[in-house]
Amino acid sequence: MTVLVTGGLGYIGSHTVVELLNSGYEVIVIDNLYNSYPEVEGRIKEITGKDLTFIKCDILDKAALDLVTSKREIDCCIHFAGLKAVGESVQKPLLYYENNITGTINLVNSLTENGCKKIIFSSSATVYGEENDIPYIETMKKGTCSSPYGWTKSMIEQILTDANTADPELSVVLLRYFNPIGAHPSGRIGEDPQGIPNNLMPYISQVAVGRRDHLTIFGNDYKTPDGTCRRDYIHVVDLAEGHVKAVEYAAKNKGTSIFNLGTGTPYSVLEIVNAFEKANGIEVKYEFGARRAGDLPEFWANSDKAKKELGWTAKKNLEDMCRDSWNWQKNNPNGYRED
Ligand code: NAD
Ligand code: WQD
Repeated sequence: MTVLVTGGLGYIGSHTVVELLNSGYEVIVIDNLYNSYPEVEGRIKEITGKDLTFIKCDILDKAALDLVTSKREIDCCIHFAGLKAVGESVQKPLLYYENNITGTINLVNSLTENGCKKIIFSSSATVYGEENDIPYIETMKKGTCSSPYGWTKSMIEQILTDANTADPELSVVLLRYFNPIGAHPSGRIGEDPQGIPNNLMPYISQVAVGRRDHLTIFGNDYKTPDGTCRRDYIHVVDLAEGHVKAVEYAAKNKGTSIFNLGTGTPYSVLEIVNAFEKANGIEVKYEFGARRAGDLPEFWANSDKAKKELGWTAKKNLEDMCRDSWNWQKNNPNGYRED
């Protein structure tokens, strides 16, 4: 069975490709390398001892996509390709709407015109918005997103749902990720943000490795147990395994299904800093700063549905997440760049 993975050289995509190859799937990756590096292909092959096909392709280029989808039998597509920086999306909303939404429409047209009816989409907990109670559960109505990035996820969910209504032969799986962190235990692939990291764990790792002086904790006056925000952090390898389960699920089920992929356990920013220090025996300097616009005090997943219907639960704990994040960072202080 052949799986097309868009954005497959990126952070979550690369870990998912490893799990797909280890599970015996043939994998074709397309990526425009906007936020990833060609080196990732070789590292995936090194980890798995298996081959994959990589084609440099932009999902905004429908003709290039058609060349990929028309020449090969594709059974299922996992769609990661997209821009994901929340703050940048506020500054450049049209870039985000064009890349994420137009790109997805091109992809779905190209896949369905060439006989692929199974699509798994990288959605996000951000679609629950600010109105919903916690923990978030799939039956909740979606809420008001705090950024254009979030709206692209919410809108793409709707576009795929509507496409499925028009074509009941489609299988659409919407996976809502919580906060992915960690890296492959080999330390060969991991998260490598460009510039100043927006997300917590890459920031902590870059402080630990000496690339940044200290972490600023955005707010310590929230109504949470220690005043800092709480999130549902999930190890990226667990998340990747969730995608393999989703591929199996899509092979057997038509229609649109939504699954939360989280652990169900929230940790505060301070707890993450402390756990990182303890797991790795290294100090992380931090200061408290102002709240970051758009941050919710706390949210986490109810992942019962994924357990029941996908047969998936997260297996790795916070110590694993902290150890593997650091293992990746210390072995690749400058990420995939040689300098
Ligand atoms: P990432 O940036 O590492 O990976 C995305 C990949 O898509 C990159 O390799 C990039 O080069 C590629 N890409 C972007 N635009 C493209 C285009 N037009 N054509 C072809 N390739 C393109 O991000 P990630 O963290 O691995 O996230 C993967 C997906 O999961 C994204 O859609 C993201 O929005 C979603 N997601 C991520 C998180 C998270 O916290 N990382 C949480 C929820 C959802
Ligand atoms: C986590 C906590 C920050 C950096 C984002 C997106 C979401 C999803 C996952 C894609 C928050 C605090 C962070 C720092 C800090 N992505 N923090 N200092 O905001 O929960 O979610 O990534 O879909 O859509 O919004 O994750 O890692 O940015 O922040 O104190 O330098 O760490 O305030 O409480 P977030 P994050």
